[in-house]
Amino acid sequence: MKENIVARFEEKFDQQPLVFAAPGRVNLIGEHTDYNEGFVLPGAVDKRIYVGIARNDSNLLNVWATQYQQKFSYQLDVIQPVKNWSTYLLGMAYHIKQMGHDLSGVNVVIDGDVPLGAGMSSSAAVCSAFGFALNDIFGLGLSRMELALLGQKTEHRFAGVKCGIMDQFASLHGKKGHVIKLDCRSLGYEYIPFDFPDYKIVLVNTMVSHTLASSEYNARRQQCEEGVRILKKYFPSAKSLRDIDEAQLEKHKNDMSDLVYRRCRFVVTENERLLRGCDLLKKGDLKSFGDMMFEAHEGLSKWYEVSCKESDFLVASAKQHEAVAGSRQMGGGFGGCTINIVKTDAVEDFSSYISERYIGQFKIVPEIYVTQIEDGAKRAE
Ligand code: GLA
Repeated sequence: MKENIVARFEEKFDQQPLVFAAPGRVNLIGEHTDYNEGFVLPGAVDKRIYVGIARNDSNLLNVWATQYQQKFSYQLDVIQPVKNWSTYLLGMAYHIKQMGHDLSGVNVVIDGDVPLGAGMSSSAAVCSAFGFALNDIFGLGLSRMELALLGQKTEHRFAGVKCGIMDQFASLHGKKGHVIKLDCRSLGYEYIPFDFPDYKIVLVNTMVSHTLASSEYNARRQQCEEGVRILKKYFPSAKSLRDIDEAQLEKHKNDMSDLVYRRCRFVVTENERLLRGCDLLKKGDLKSFGDMMFEAHEGLSKWYEVSCKESDFLVASAKQHEAVAGSRQMGGGFGGCTINIVKTDAVEDFSSYISERYIGQFKIVPEIYVTQIEDGAKRAE
């Protein structure tokens, strides 16, 4: 990939670039907990967004995106959100300038193999790769956490999605062979080895990405906030659903609408699942961990209502395959990928089994990615 970026850069800009890469992510468990100040358990994967970059003598951000075969040019002193992928670059530049850093013009080529709209955080990888690149070539001295927070702001203000911090964090802090237990309140984190040679993390892409995704995502966030407003009457120190346990929620469920109760119930139980899940992983008990993934999917589908018929079908099918320890829909929801923990020696069998069933049901060929957990953003080798 690096060679392609360099070749394209020479062709488009007649210059030699530096090349940086930032990965997409998986999340083992803990979905929709990040914006509720709970915990998540992501890892960076071996699919990345690559950014080739070199300064130019102007005040222009000139960018060529190979995946879209599109070129844009923007003045860096009048940055506004736009309605295409380049809004993520603009958002990063804007927020870096807002911090008081000087940026001058750059030429950029961007490409990658993180599947788009697949729940693997391609947009966070774009923000991380570009932010990391600017940080390097302008010597800004920003930490990885600062870059992650700028990526999150970009998603909020330049793409209108009120996401949590998980995706940007994982893309920047990933570590080969490890998942990361992140406390989304304190931003403290712990690397946990994901060291199960007998198992692989297999993603199955539904190839659907329902248009509801961003509006419903923002609606979930509001419903959770509504739950906290109600529960605060009884637990004044509660700042978010992170501070509520199941018993407290059950006691006051009649104070809230059934919808808000179901949203809160999912988040509270998902956070508890994550904490138990980390202990199971540390003990090497992947079997019980997998059972919790199925439970989590049930919650995503029935209580949080962010699944869809395609994801439900894939998870139900995976459950019937004897080599699968656990399976659930991953990421924001309404399509994208399911994450499956599959016995290494049965990955091929599982892949053809799940493809055949999915094609039979939906006439759609799913893409399947057998992932490796890798390092976060870095200079591309
Ligand atoms: C998307 C968001 C994340 C997180 C997940 C759900 O990926 O960007 O912040 O909320 O959905 O866990």
